[in-house]
Amino acid sequence: MPQQGNTSGLAGITAGETALSTVGKEGLDLTYRGYSIRDLAEGASFEEVVYLLLYGILPSRTELDRYKNLLLSLRDLPAALKTVLEQLPPTANPVDVLRTGCSALGTMEPEGEDRDAHAIANRLIASFPSMLLYWFHFHRSGKRIETRAEAHPTVADQFLFLLRGEAPSSLHVRALDAALVLHAEHEFNASTFTCRVIVSTLSDFYSAITGGIGALRGPLHGGADEGAMRLLERFSTPEEAEAGIRGMLEKKEKIMGFGHRVYKKGDPRAPIIKSLAKQLAAEAGDRTLFPIAERIEEMLLSEKGLYPNLDFYSAVAYHFLGIPTFLFTPLFVISRASGWAAHILEQRANNRLIRPIATYIGPAPRPFPKLDER
Ligand code: ACO
Repeated sequence: MPQQGNTSGLAGITAGETALSTVGKEGLDLTYRGYSIRDLAEGASFEEVVYLLLYGILPSRTELDRYKNLLLSLRDLPAALKTVLEQLPPTANPVDVLRTGCSALGTMEPEGEDRDAHAIANRLIASFPSMLLYWFHFHRSGKRIETRAEAHPTVADQFLFLLRGEAPSSLHVRALDAALVLHAEHEFNASTFTCRVIVSTLSDFYSAITGGIGALRGPLHGGADEGAMRLLERFSTPEEAEAGIRGMLEKKEKIMGFGHRVYKKGDPRAPIIKSLAKQLAAEAGDRTLFPIAERIEEMLLSEKGLYPNLDFYSAVAYHFLGIPTFLFTPLFVISRASGWAAHILEQRANNRLIRPIATYIGPAPRPFPKLDER
């Protein structure tokens, strides 16, 4: 059946099948393998969600304990990778650090007979926080941190501990864990589709994830959370924010953290992350940032009919977790690596080269002039 509407940017085009998630198929909902995002964010840890995505079922308690131990055992970095991370400039974009770390690990522990796709998926999910925070501390204080952090068994707990050097509160671990769950998977978004295109050529796992990181980095996709934070920081009162946003809209500027290609009536992840951001703001005694964010939300809805996407209140939540703004998008990488990995496995299970065609809009065929005739 021909597909209707404006399909530029592949909008509305069905580009394949997936059993991993539904995005806005039933009303406004999002499910991972049939489970509602609300249930997962409230009742499942990030590790349970990763297991669900990679192995197709929710783990039993024993399976989960075993899986968490496996991930814990995969946190250490090879010495050669630490050297690479030390050589990268302190001014590097941390997303580029993960992109480079992923690619470098692929040369040290390549995919092959003794290392299958599941093993690499687990290795990357377990070692991305280690790569990021090893690089971060080495270039800030010269410290070569121990990344295993045995006493901090989940990704959220390990991340906050390695970042701060002290044990995080249970509220902070729970909030970051839920944020990781919300970011894990989202059907054929730009970065996931990039991963699928790459493995459809029978390329290797690391190349696909490296490409996915590159696609996620842009401000129209994963980079929007950092853009949202920089925007929020420009204002000191809700009134100032209202005037500032009005000016931006008049100049037709995009407001980061608003709008979505699929969810035109609201992103189901946004109220969940907003509620966490609200709790974290209250805990921090905030009377400024959260009200500013809410005023911007109200304004964009009334003026433009635009709703916040996951990125907007993620920025607020991460801010109150004490995470520096330039580490927001790397956190997205750490979480979404699970969805990318699951899509790579799914693409490979029923592969056909992804190779669309284009409508040609260039010049009609014409005579070729020799060099000295031009
Ligand atoms: N700020 C201001 N206006 C917007 C915004 C925004 N954030 N988003 C959409 N619009 C407007 C557009 O200007 C356009 O208006 P027009 O019809 O008057 O020209 C209309 O809404 C439709 O927008 P498009 O850009 O055509 O929608 P598209 O589906 O191509 O883009 C996108 C979706 C890229 C997410 C867009 O909403 C955007 O740029 N948002 C800001 C970046 C962002 O937050 N990205 C994160 C996405 S979610 C994620 O990765 C977790």
